Amino acid sequence: MKDQIKLLEKEAKVLEPHPTERSLWQRKTEQYAFKFLDQLSNSKTYVQSSNEGKGLENHPIQDTPISIEEVLTILEENVDSPGLNPASGGHLGYIPGGGIFPTALGDYLAAITNRYAGIYFGGPGAVRMENLLIQWMCSIMGYPKSASGNLSSGGSIGNLIAIVTARDFKKITSQNIPNSVIYLTSQVHHCVQKAIRISGLNEIHTTYIPVDKDFKMDMNVLRQQIQEDINAGKNPFLLIGSAGTTDVGAVDPLEEMADIAKEFNLWFHVDAAYGGFFILTEEGKKKLKGIEKSDSLVIDPHKGLFLSYGLGTVLIKNVKAQQDAHFYQANYMQDAVVNQDALSPADLSPELTKHFRGLRMWLPLQLFGVAPFKAALSEKLLLTQYFYKKIQALGFEVGPFPELSVMIYRYIPQDGDANDFNAKLIQHVHKDGRVFLSSTTIEGVYWLRIAVLAFRTHLDTIDLCLKVLSEGIDLLKKEVVSEVVDKVIGD
Ligand SMILES: Cc1ncc(COP(=O)(O)O)c(C=O)c1O
Repeated sequence: MKDQIKLLEKEAKVLEPHPTERSLWQRKTEQYAFKFLDQLSNSKTYVQSSNEGKGLENHPIQDTPISIEEVLTILEENVDSPGLNPASGGHLGYIPGGGIFPTALGDYLAAITNRYAGIYFGGPGAVRMENLLIQWMCSIMGYPKSASGNLSSGGSIGNLIAIVTARDFKKITSQNIPNSVIYLTSQVHHCVQKAIRISGLNEIHTTYIPVDKDFKMDMNVLRQQIQEDINAGKNPFLLIGSAGTTDVGAVDPLEEMADIAKEFNLWFHVDAAYGGFFILTEEGKKKLKGIEKSDSLVIDPHKGLFLSYGLGTVLIKNVKAQQDAHFYQANYMQDAVVNQDALSPADLSPELTKHFRGLRMWLPLQLFGVAPFKAALSEKLLLTQYFYKKIQALGFEVGPFPELSVMIYRYIPQDGDANDFNAKLIQHVHKDGRVFLSSTTIEGVYWLRIAVLAFRTHLDTIDLCLKVLSEGIDLLKKEVVSEVVDKVIGD
């Protein structure tokens, strides 16, 4: 038996590469990463190609290894070439993030040391770091020191944790689900509806309160609706607001919502996944006033702090409620219960074994300090206002004045259907690829969006975006003229 064990050990020892091989892999990977970064400003933001990563299928996982050079070539051709490049400053669609460099160093160190950040007993330093980051976010959002939260994989899971906590705190069970009510608007991010469904609340009343011309929840209707529901014997329990909607960047009237929630004893949750970090700017602070009165909120460092994907945050004032909704004990965990000097993420979220996410946020904040983040966020607000002005000069119709850094606009052609025209315009932008924009449809109207949040987006990027749109319009107009000519000749 010992011989067999020794034989297997020899074979398995490959998993601990010799320092020479380790440094070769590291060097090659670093060269690849630096080349990627150095070429970013000259690379397309969106690449439409027939490849779409299909080459990966030619390299199935097998018993025998391949070289680092081969691995990186496969990666470059199949993963890092086709599609959207979210690291690019030209990413102006959906909600961009970026990928500031020290995030990678944080992930690297977290992966090498593999510190456990789930339970204080196992990784007191790692857990403490995550808790300190949560406390820092509580302080910037105006939450008390006693509040808690969780570093989640993203905003979707953050919203889920908050909704599950609200559900249990308000004692929503199978008995009263059909009678209970959640208030929200059609502008909430769809992960909120997903979270409602996943948390077993599919049969609850989700009442969509209308929005005003600026896409904010109508407070008169909200108050009236809650009162009517109470009179009808229903059980209003949760009010969900948005601080920066995905469609247009609107911030709901948070202060009034908080007051109404208090008056009617509702849990008030705010999804500030996109807009939350603008609180670091003077302008943003005014816009987000009232968020501090919420019971829970979501704020995403992989959006507003420009980290690469993989870090959202939920903050919850009532720690006990969060713990009651997520805590579970198991016999094999009995040693981990002792020595609890701090809250453990595993007791406050669905996760047990988790990535040590705190390090990817702590490292950049320590290495840069907060000041450059504030500057970058203020820059993004101004760039959006600049775009708002310039796009109108190009003849575009615009939606509301950008409250944060997302706005909608569309071109109304002299002839033909405006929705079709704008859909073709976005196709032109995607084909061109120098910048990436996305679109949305609101009440049957097709709008183009711009979302300025990538940290590499600067004035020259916005000017380039205006140029791409302007060229697109010229091209589409020519196409319309030639279609008309063809038709006349054909007739
Ligand atoms: C307002 C808002 N909430 C929630 C989410 C979901 O966050 P995530 O994609 O990190 O899960 C997004 C994503 O763009 C968002 O814009």
